[in-house]
Amino acid sequence: MSAALIDGKAIAATIRGEIRDSVQDLEAHHGRVPGLATVLVGQRKDSETYVRMKKRACAEVGIASFGHELPEDVSQDELLAVVAGLNADPEVHGILVQLPLPDHIDDEAVLAAISLEKDVDGFHPLNIGRLSMKRREPLFVPCTPKGCIELLDRSGIEIAGRNAVVLGRSNIVGLPVAMLLLHRNATLTVCHSRTADLPAMVRQADILVAAVGRPEMVKGDWIKPGAAVIDVGVNAVDDASDPRGYRLVGDVDFEAARAVAGHITPVPGGVGPMTIAMLLQNTLAGFKRSLGAA
Ligand code: GUN
Repeated sequence: MSAALIDGKAIAATIRGEIRDSVQDLEAHHGRVPGLATVLVGQRKDSETYVRMKKRACAEVGIASFGHELPEDVSQDELLAVVAGLNADPEVHGILVQLPLPDHIDDEAVLAAISLEKDVDGFHPLNIGRLSMKRREPLFVPCTPKGCIELLDRSGIEIAGRNAVVLGRSNIVGLPVAMLLLHRNATLTVCHSRTADLPAMVRQADILVAAVGRPEMVKGDWIKPGAAVIDVGVNAVDDASDPRGYRLVGDVDFEAARAVAGHITPVPGGVGPMTIAMLLQNTLAGFKRSLGAA
C-alpha cells in the first residue's frame, strides 16, 4: 500500500480562495484591504525568490504588498528605521523581514522592533514566548509550523495522544512546530544532531515532522507503518537529467517512505505552498484585528 499524498499545493489553493473571499467581503464593507510589507536585505537568490512568491500570492488574494529592498551593507539603524516607519503606516498590517539577515545585523533586535500587532511571521520574542507557554495566546503563530498543523488537520489526522517526532530544532520551524504539537496534546520528541539512535526514535512517530535541511536523510525503514510524514525540507541536489541541472528533494526519501507511511507530503508541493498561505492568513487576521481596534 502506498501512502495517501497530502497535496499542499491544492490545500493552499483552497485556503487562498477562502482568504480572497474574505478580503473582498471586508473591502466591500470597509473600503480598505489588508497590506503586507516585505523587507529584503541583500541579494540572496533564495530570499529573493521567497519574497517574490509572497508578493505574487498577495496580489492573487487582493492583499496590497509593499516591497522594501535594502542593500547588503545597510546599517542596523537604517533597517530599524524602515521597520519603525512600517509600524506607523496604517496601510500596513503585516511586516515580514526576510531571514536570514547579514551577519552584521542583530536579527533578534530587528524582530523585536516589529510591532506585535504586525508580527505576521510570529517571530517577535513576545509572540514566541507566549507560544512556548501554556494558556498564553500569541497574536501570530509562525507560518511554516502553522502550515504543518493545518495540513494534518485538513487531512483528518488526529494529533492528540499520538507520538509526534520533530526532527530539527530551528527557531523558524523545529521549535515552534514542537510547541504547536504539544499544545494539541501530542506526546512529543524533538530529535537533533546529538540524538542517539535516530532511526529508532523516528520509528516511534505516528506523526513525523522532518525539518533538518539534509537531503533524503530519513530512510524508508525509519518510518512507522501508517505514520503521517510532514517533510519541511527543501534541498537542491545535482541532477544532470533535469534541465536546471538540479532537482528539489525533501529531508525524507520520498519513494521509500511512501511505501510505508499512511500519509506523506511531497517536495515540492507539500509544506512550501502552505507557508505562504499561512502568511496571507496571518496578514488577514492582523487587518481584521486593526478594524476591531479602530
Ligand atoms: N526564511 C526562511 N523562512 C522564513 C520565514 O518563514 N519567514 C521569514 N521572515 N524568513 C524566512
